[in-house]
Amino acid sequence: MLNYYRYINLFFSFHWKRIFMAIFCFALFSSCNKQNNHPHFKIGFSQCVGADLWRRTMLEEMRIELSLHPGIEFVYKDADNNSAVQIRQVKQLLDDDIDLLIISPNEARPLTPIVEEAFSKGIPVIVIDRKTSSNFYTAYVGSNNYEIGKLAGDYLGRTVKTNASVMEILGLPGSSPTIERQKGFSDALKKYPNLHLDKQLYCNWLKDTTKKKLLQISAELKNIDIVFAHNDMMALGAKEVFKSLNLDRNMKFIGVDASPGTGGGLQLIAGKQLNASMLYPTGGKEAIRTAFSILNKTSFNKESIQPTLVIDSSNVQLMQIQWNRISSQQNDIERQQSLLAEQQKVYNSQRVILNIIVITMVVAIVFGGLAFFLLNENRKTNKKLEAKNYEILSQRNQLIEMSAKAEVATEAKLNFFTNISHEFRTPLTLILLPLEDLIAQIKTDSVQSKNLKLIHKNVIRLLRYVNQLIEYRKIEYDKLKIRATENNLVPFVKEIVSSFNDMAVKNNINLQFTSFTNSIMIWFDVNMLDKVIFNLLSNAFKFTKNNGLIKISIKKPQEADEIIIEVEDNGIGMTEESVLHAFDMFYQADSYSFKGSGLGLSLSKEFMNLHKGSLKVKSKKGQGTTFTINLRTGDSHLLEDEKYTHKGQIENIYEQEKIYNITLEDLPIQLNKPAGGVIKEQSILIIEDNTDLLAYLTSKFETDYEVFATTNGNDGFNLAFEKIPDIIISDVVLPELSGKEITNKLKTDIRTSHIPIILLTAKGSLEQQIEGIRNKADVYIVKPFNFDYLLENVRNLLNNRQLLKEHYSSEYPGGNKVPVSKKLDKKFLNEFSGIVEANLSNEKFTVDDICKNIGISRIQLYRKVKALLGCSITDYILSRRLQKAKYLLLNEDLSIAEVTYQTGFSSPTYFSTVFKGKYGCTPSDFKKNNINQS
Ligand code: FRU
Repeated sequence: MLNYYRYINLFFSFHWKRIFMAIFCFALFSSCNKQNNHPHFKIGFSQCVGADLWRRTMLEEMRIELSLHPGIEFVYKDADNNSAVQIRQVKQLLDDDIDLLIISPNEARPLTPIVEEAFSKGIPVIVIDRKTSSNFYTAYVGSNNYEIGKLAGDYLGRTVKTNASVMEILGLPGSSPTIERQKGFSDALKKYPNLHLDKQLYCNWLKDTTKKKLLQISAELKNIDIVFAHNDMMALGAKEVFKSLNLDRNMKFIGVDASPGTGGGLQLIAGKQLNASMLYPTGGKEAIRTAFSILNKTSFNKESIQPTLVIDSSNVQLMQIQWNRISSQQNDIERQQSLLAEQQKVYNSQRVILNIIVITMVVAIVFGGLAFFLLNENRKTNKKLEAKNYEILSQRNQLIEMSAKAEVATEAKLNFFTNISHEFRTPLTLILLPLEDLIAQIKTDSVQSKNLKLIHKNVIRLLRYVNQLIEYRKIEYDKLKIRATENNLVPFVKEIVSSFNDMAVKNNINLQFTSFTNSIMIWFDVNMLDKVIFNLLSNAFKFTKNNGLIKISIKKPQEADEIIIEVEDNGIGMTEESVLHAFDMFYQADSYSFKGSGLGLSLSKEFMNLHKGSLKVKSKKGQGTTFTINLRTGDSHLLEDEKYTHKGQIENIYEQEKIYNITLEDLPIQLNKPAGGVIKEQSILIIEDNTDLLAYLTSKFETDYEVFATTNGNDGFNLAFEKIPDIIISDVVLPELSGKEITNKLKTDIRTSHIPIILLTAKGSLEQQIEGIRNKADVYIVKPFNFDYLLENVRNLLNNRQLLKEHYSSEYPGGNKVPVSKKLDKKFLNEFSGIVEANLSNEKFTVDDICKNIGISRIQLYRKVKALLGCSITDYILSRRLQKAKYLLLNEDLSIAEVTYQTGFSSPTYFSTVFKGKYGCTPSDFKKNNINQS
């Protein structure tokens, strides 16, 4: 759960910048999106000419209308009176993917194909003002030009009653308004015979062209009374030419368009420069509206015809007023539109801000919720932690309390032990003294003397332990102070080493002493250092095998104020675990590599600490151990009251400790002495590393049993195979192979599985006893033990073996669960009897054949069969042969010779002799008697 919170926190701390950027972009995007929710269209407008006022007005009208419809892209092209240019521009618009085309074709015919092409591609086409030559367009917006021509003719007919010569100035020849206006005008004039259409002139809709062309024919202009031009600009050009020729008096000039604005038709009429003009609305606004209807697929007029009327002096003012109003309204609209646009901008930016605020708020709420949730969870976790903390604290307090109690209890126990130890000293001394008297009185070689010496040695050993215990307690209470004197270290060490010479010789151990010099005057407590070195040497001897090496060397490291004493052996060495605990007070290693009282080394280390020196150990399993003593030179490290200069005092102290210098010599023990005198029926193998105990047990058992004895686990294991004893007594902690390992190995081997094993051990806890039994030991006896108890156990196990023997040598009951070793025995017996049965008729069958078959040695087979069946192998085979012979004699109709060969006897004579020896009659008598009886 904590990880989960950490992950969330990490996520936010890493990504908050990105989160806020994303919010901002999203807000902006959503605002833009709202602005653009109109469908987007592209309208292309192809204008034939854009420069004149009328067309500018048309474009303006379009733009105003477009501003009311956002979302339209408007593409404008001006062909400048050139049809070829206009065709090209329309093509560009089509390539530009326009959605709708508005076109005012310059000339009808040339522009028709391109308009048809657009239309046939499905692009809607609105034709405005001028037309093409076909009907392939979507809508038309414009005025009825025929009506405009007719309106002009009718106006003249109404207002001119006298005969008058009329001149018509036409637009571009191929453009539709030119054609239609001309037709309407001529049709109207037919009604008025006083009006004569005397001259027609094409001037391409342009004022300058009109002027130019009129001046070219100025001679023909004298009789003209009326000029009707197809637009106001050409009418004005004509007026100016006629005026320049002074011909304009009493003349009438009328035009078409009546455009508003400066220079437009309305102003020309108001300024009396033109007499009248036919109103020709541009249709710009209507074209855009129609386009929207088409694009939005709503209804529209295919032909949107703009209204027209005559504007002259009678209504021009009204028209101007109207126009000005429209104009100002238009301005208002434009202003409002720009205001609206500005408002839109403000609105948009505010909307972005609002969106950001809203999203931020939402995110804040989400994060807030999350933070609240996390806070809550955190609070819960904290509460749990608090509870746990409280629990731990109270447990700790309990532990402190318990450990204080334990300390008090331990202290009390240790005090008790110390006091008891003190108490032991006197009785032990009182045992020791009369004992020494007794030893002196009794004959050295007698059994009593041996036993008394054993007692003596162990009393001294006990005294030593008691003293160690007391000294350790003294150190603990700072009561033990060193009493250092300045002595020559070399002879001092040498003397201790020499006290081990006998032991070295006896065990064939190479004991070496070396020193870098003969004299080293150094301060030390003679008693303490004596005990330390003595202890280290005893250890070295304990763990070094015969023919080993023990080296004691005194060294002085260069440039150091210290002396080193090394005690090095090439013995069995210690495990890493044992090295770690070598100096622990009560540490007892499980393996043999470190077996002792657990006090000697610990005490030695404390002694060296009191010297402000040190004691260290280096060891490797199987390679040996080196203890290193460091002693400081000089006396600056010693307090005044730690230094003794009074000689007599020292000698006295040293004398007191003689028990440390006595070599506790082992009792002579003759192991595995060759069988002499009476041969014992049963044998015992005793494996015990304490030679005293081994000697004692040997002497106790050897009267009734053949005893094989050894102090080494591995040797014991090998002896078990070699001798196949009837019973084994073994210690648990042994050099090389532990008692448990020996038991386990022997009990799982068919050759030795039948041997009962008694484990003797100092480890007395129930768990340890159970573990011993689990390792298949038959009995587990805790030291100190009562010898009679051990003896009874030995007898008991051997008796049980006897019962088993009888049991196995008769019938084998099936289904009974037997322990592992017994299963192995049963297997062995099955195998053994099977081989014998199969070979009963084999005359050459020998014991070696069985050994080969089962895979054990002759002596092992002999011992095993003896142990399990209580008879020799040959006796067993012979009895099986005779039993078979008996069966054959009784049940089969066979001759004696045949029975002889079927039961593996070499000759009938030999068979008869053996048979008679066993059953008291010859085989033939046996057959006769028994068959007769039946
Ligand atoms: C403007 C114009 C107008 C006329 C119209 C005919 O270019 O010449 O004066 O009425 O075109 O298409």
